[in-house]
Amino acid sequence: PEGDTADRHESAWLHVSGRAEYIDDLPEPEGCLHACLGLSERAHARIAALDLAAVLAAPGVAGVLTARDVPCVNDISPTHRHDEPVFAEDRVLFHGQPIFAVVAATRAQARAAARLARADYEALPHAVDIEAAEAMGLPLVTPPLTLSQGDAAAGLAAAPRRLSGEMRIGGQDHFYLEGHIALAIPQDDGIVIHSSTQHPSEVQHMVAAALGLPANAVTVLVRRMGGAFGGKETQSNLFAVVAALAALRWGRAVKLRPDRDDDMISTGKRHDFRVRYEVGFDDDGRILAVDAGFAARCGFSSDLSGPVTDRALFHADNAYFYPAARLVSQPQMTHTVSNTAFRGFGGPQGVVGAERIIEEIAYATGRDPLEVRKLNFYGEGRDVTPYHQRVEDNILPRLVAELEASSDYGARRAAVLAFNRDSRIVRRGIALTPVKFGISFTATWYNQAGALVHVYQDGSVQANHGGTEMGQGLHTKVRGVVAEVFGLSPERVRVTATATDKVPNTSATAASSGADLNGMAALAAATTIRDRLRAFLAESRGVGAESVRFEGGMVLAGDVAEPFAQVVKAAYMARVQLSASGYYRTPKVHWDREKGRGRPFYYYAYGAAASEVSVDTLTGEHVVDRVDILHDAGKSLNPEIDLGQVEGGFVQGMGWLTSEELWWDEAGRLRTHAPSTYKIPLASDRPRVFNVALADWSECREMTIKRSKAVGEPPLMLAASVLEALSMAVASLADYRECPRLDAPATPERLLMAAERLRGR
Ligand code: MTE
Ligand code: MOS
Repeated sequence: PEGDTADRHESAWLHVSGRAEYIDDLPEPEGCLHACLGLSERAHARIAALDLAAVLAAPGVAGVLTARDVPCVNDISPTHRHDEPVFAEDRVLFHGQPIFAVVAATRAQARAAARLARADYEALPHAVDIEAAEAMGLPLVTPPLTLSQGDAAAGLAAAPRRLSGEMRIGGQDHFYLEGHIALAIPQDDGIVIHSSTQHPSEVQHMVAAALGLPANAVTVLVRRMGGAFGGKETQSNLFAVVAALAALRWGRAVKLRPDRDDDMISTGKRHDFRVRYEVGFDDDGRILAVDAGFAARCGFSSDLSGPVTDRALFHADNAYFYPAARLVSQPQMTHTVSNTAFRGFGGPQGVVGAERIIEEIAYATGRDPLEVRKLNFYGEGRDVTPYHQRVEDNILPRLVAELEASSDYGARRAAVLAFNRDSRIVRRGIALTPVKFGISFTATWYNQAGALVHVYQDGSVQANHGGTEMGQGLHTKVRGVVAEVFGLSPERVRVTATATDKVPNTSATAASSGADLNGMAALAAATTIRDRLRAFLAESRGVGAESVRFEGGMVLAGDVAEPFAQVVKAAYMARVQLSASGYYRTPKVHWDREKGRGRPFYYYAYGAAASEVSVDTLTGEHVVDRVDILHDAGKSLNPEIDLGQVEGGFVQGMGWLTSEELWWDEAGRLRTHAPSTYKIPLASDRPRVFNVALADWSECREMTIKRSKAVGEPPLMLAASVLEALSMAVASLADYRECPRLDAPATPERLLMAAERLRGR
C-alpha cells in the first residue's frame, strides 16, 4: 500500500481500512449455530432447580447444554485445581457465573431464549470484597507467598522514623475492542476452533480435556485479536469449550460471541488490592525496612491469582532497595468473578504501592519525592531484591537524569509550587516516577517457544510461531527478524495465523515476552535455512560458506550476486530442504517459590515518566497537562511499534488509576458492565502535551533478540506519575504537610473527598 514503511504494523493498512479480519468477520460455515450463556443471578447459592423448558421451546432453539452435558472434565482452571467449572453444577459462586448455554439458529434467538430460564436459588452467605471475605473466613484461592530479606521487624524497630498506612488500588476491565469469541467447526473425528485467545495451546488442551478428545484432534487458530491485554490469557477457555461442546453435540459449526455486558460480567479482570505497609527510614528519607501485606480480591477460583499476586510482591520494591523486607501476599477468595491477568500481571499494583511508600516518606521528610526516589534507587552494594535476585542492569540513574533534564522537571516543579500559592481553586501537581519491570514468566517452564519457517520457490517466505497477535505488533517484529536473516525486505515475509498444528505446546503470549521468545525461535528457524543455502552455494560455487552474504534481496557469493529467489529455486532443484523449525528457551532463569529465592527474571526493563496535572478542587475534575516519557526498549526491534506500545500502555494505566472504576452492589452484581457506567480514557483525556521517547542508547546486557527488551507491559506503570501528581495538587490544600493517601482510581469523587479532607486541616 501507498506510503507503507518497513516499520509499520503488518496489518496497519488492514486495521485502518476495516479489512483486517476478526473471527466474527469470517464467513460462517453452512448451518452455523449460535450459542449464548445463561448466567447466575445470585452471588452464592445452591441451585435447587433449573427449569429450561421455556428456553427449549423458544423459536430457533436447537438445544441447551448444562454441566451434565460436559462429556469429560467440567473444569477450565488453568492451574488444574479443578476449581472453575465450565458450567456451575449445584452451586453458584458469583453473580454472572455460567450455568447453561442455549444454542439456536441465530445469535438473536439464542440471546432471547437464554432470558427465559427459571432457576430456584437457595441463597447462601456471600462476600463481595476482601473485608467481607476475611470476616466470613473464606479461604485463600492459592497458597500465599512470603518474600523476606534480612530482619524486617528488627529493621523497623531500629529505624529512626517509621510510619504505616493502607492503600486501595482498584481493578480494571480489559475493554478490548473485539470481545471474546469462539467459532468451533467439527471436522472428521476432530474439531477446529477459531478462538480470540492469547493462549491457543491452553484452549486446545482445555477443549480436549472437556470433550474427552486427544489433543491431536483439536486444532486452535488465531489470526489476530482486537486487543486482549491479559483478558484472553485464560478467559477464552470458557467460550471455546462451550462452542466446541455444542459443535460436537450438533455436528454443526457453532459460534459463541457474548455481548459486551455479558463479556464484562462473566470474565475476570485486574485484581483490586489492599496494600498495608509499614516502613522504617532515616531523616534523609532512606528506606531501612519495609513490612507490607498485599491482599487481592481474587474471586471465586484461583485462575492466575497465584502468579498475579506473586508478581505484585516481585514489584513491591519497584526501583528501590529495601535493606530489610517482609512482603506477604493474600490471594483472597471472594464471591465475585475470578480475576485474571491484566497488563503488568499484579506488577502494577506492587509498583503503585511502592510509589505510595516513597510519597509518604517525601511528605514526612518535607523533601521532593524525586529526591527520595534517587536516594533509594538500587546501586552498588545495594542491589539485592527481596527475592534475592541481583539487579545487574540498572540504568535508572541515567534514564531519570535525562528525563529530568528533558522535561525540565526542576523548573516546572518550582512553577507548580508558585502557581499553587496564588491559585484558590485550580491546583497543580507534578511527579516523576520510574519503573523497573522484571521480564520472564515466573513459571519457568513457560519461557520456551517454537517457530516454523518456509521458503517457497519464488523466494517468498512464510513464518509461523507460537505467539499471538493482539495489536501489539508481535508479527511485525518477527517478520522483521526473519526478513533480516535472508536480507529481504519485510514485505517478502508473511507471518501466518497462530496454529496449534504448526507449532505445538506454546506458551501464552504474555508477560511481554512474545518477541523475546518467538523472535528467537524464528531467528533459529530462519538461520537453519540460511545456513543450508550457504552450504549449497559454497559447494556449488566453490566459495567459502562464511563469505556468502544475504543483502538487499540478493545473495552474494564470491563475486557473483544473484536474486534471492533465483538462489532458492536452484537450491530446490538441488533438493535442499527449504523449511525448518526453530526452538528457544530463556537461559539463566530459575525460581524456588518455597524458599522465595532465585532469578525469576532474565533482565529488567526500565522507564520513567514526568506528569503534570491540574485539578479543579471544587469539582474534583482534572486535566493531564503534560507528560514526558523516556522508556527503555533496549535496542528496539521496531521503534514505531514500541512508541505505540509506550503511549498505549501509559494511557491504559492512566485510565486504570483515574477513571476506570469497577463497582459491585451488595448483592454481588457488577454494576459497571458497559461503557455507559465504566469510563475508559477517551481521545479527549490524553495528555495535552505528550512527549514520548525511547532511550536509544540502551541495549539489553543479556543475549535477547538483537539486544532488544520487552515493551508490552512496563509502560502501563509509568502512569503512577499521574496519580502522584494528582495527589500533590490536592496536598497543596494543606501546604504539603501531609500525604493525601489518594487511593486509585483517583476519580473526581475521590479527589474531591481528599480535597475536602485536606482543606479542613
Ligand atoms: N498492545 C495491544 N495493542 N493490544 C494488547 O492486547 N496486550 C499487552 C501488551 N500490549 C496488548 C498490547 C499485554 S498484557 C502483553 S503481556 C503484551 O502486549 C503481549 O505481547 P508481547 O509479549 O508480544 O509484548
Ligand atoms: Mo499480559 S497481562 O501478560 O497478557
